[in-house]
Amino acid sequence: MNKTIKPITDIEKTIRVPGDKSISHRAVMFGSIAKGDTEITGFLTGDDCMSTIGCFKKLGIDIEADGEHITVHGKGLNGLAAPLGRLDVGNSGTTIRLISGILAAQGFDCELNGDASIQKRPMKRIIAPLTEMGADIESTNGGYAPLKIHGKKLKAIEYTMPVASAQVKSSILLASLFAEGETVINEPVASRDHTEIMLNYFGADITNTNGRIVSRPVKELYAKAIAVPGDISSAAFFMVAGLIVPNSHIIIENVGINPTRTGIIDALRAMGGYVNIINERSSGGEPVGDIEVKTSHLKATELSGDIIPRMIDEIPVFAVAALAAEGTTTVRDARELKVKESNRIATVSAELGKMGADITETDDGMIIPGGQHLHGAVTDSHLDHRLAMTCAIAALTSDGETTITDADCVGISFPDFYEVLDSLKR
Ligand code: S3P
Repeated sequence: MNKTIKPITDIEKTIRVPGDKSISHRAVMFGSIAKGDTEITGFLTGDDCMSTIGCFKKLGIDIEADGEHITVHGKGLNGLAAPLGRLDVGNSGTTIRLISGILAAQGFDCELNGDASIQKRPMKRIIAPLTEMGADIESTNGGYAPLKIHGKKLKAIEYTMPVASAQVKSSILLASLFAEGETVINEPVASRDHTEIMLNYFGADITNTNGRIVSRPVKELYAKAIAVPGDISSAAFFMVAGLIVPNSHIIIENVGINPTRTGIIDALRAMGGYVNIINERSSGGEPVGDIEVKTSHLKATELSGDIIPRMIDEIPVFAVAALAAEGTTTVRDARELKVKESNRIATVSAELGKMGADITETDDGMIIPGGQHLHGAVTDSHLDHRLAMTCAIAALTSDGETTITDADCVGISFPDFYEVLDSLKR
């Protein structure tokens, strides 16, 4: 599907964004290995989270889906059954990396695969620590999917993370639930901690003392209700829209504002953006609030170090804010962008480049001169949901129309993105 976007001005709107992708995945996975029924509300029905549901159904878990309301009939830590045929993770890195930590410890073998993009995402980063724990994982494709996992008895390890990755950390933490002894993970730079929060909510014993994460064995996890907040990674598109579209004011209700995810708010505020959090509250151990943004005069900033993992998925749309700012913005320490759904350093530069943006790619980030007025163009999503949405937001302040090809990939994380975008028009 192609989607054509026209520029707009004067947005005055209160919106909601769909459920958090990271939390939705985890609710299904952890619910499946907990005892009892996990009732999930606000679940993201995007393709990635539906892949997670598909995998656990194949592993013998009964999951009822009624729109954003999901019931997972968990069978406890030892309740999964050998699947018939391959597990298909679709486009989802979170599914394949997290589920591998669980499958490594089962009393059966299985095979995992996904789409063309997933077959280019590095899996050695989970294979290495899980193998140290005693796992037997075969990659028939030199460190990429498909993966064959032969279930084994696992033992605890102490592991120092070479890259900040919540998916790797979570994979090890899930394996630790089945391992003998205390597992220790040293995390030099903090990554999102939804796994630690939700597993503890379900009865696990995980502590984090200054980046030293310790998981002690428990006998079982117990189901609890999960209300998934809106995804800050989806909200980020409308935060940037509200800041750069003239005469605008947007409130995004019910967004997860876990401090390991709010780098985008810090970065936009550092640029002089009006980003206000109202109605702060807590749900299932996760902080939630409404985010208010107003058109602002943005100034360039420098992004590097600890903030990068706290906003890694938002850097594509952050680039759109930087293009509108006064001065030159630099992004460093963001090499991980190269191994996302697309190589986002290359694809963001190339696709916004078609709209006239002059972005210099570097080995670990981008140099983005501000004050650039863009023009409409035909851009391609590279089947990367966040790239499609980034081009759509850039189109709002460009001259003329922009057409995005393969635009329907937004269904991965934000199925009604274009409807919400269209609703901003007066
Ligand atoms: C995620 C972690 C991040 C993020 C991804 C979701 C998660 O990936 O980019 O969209 O749910 O744990 P990495 O762990 O590779 O940084």
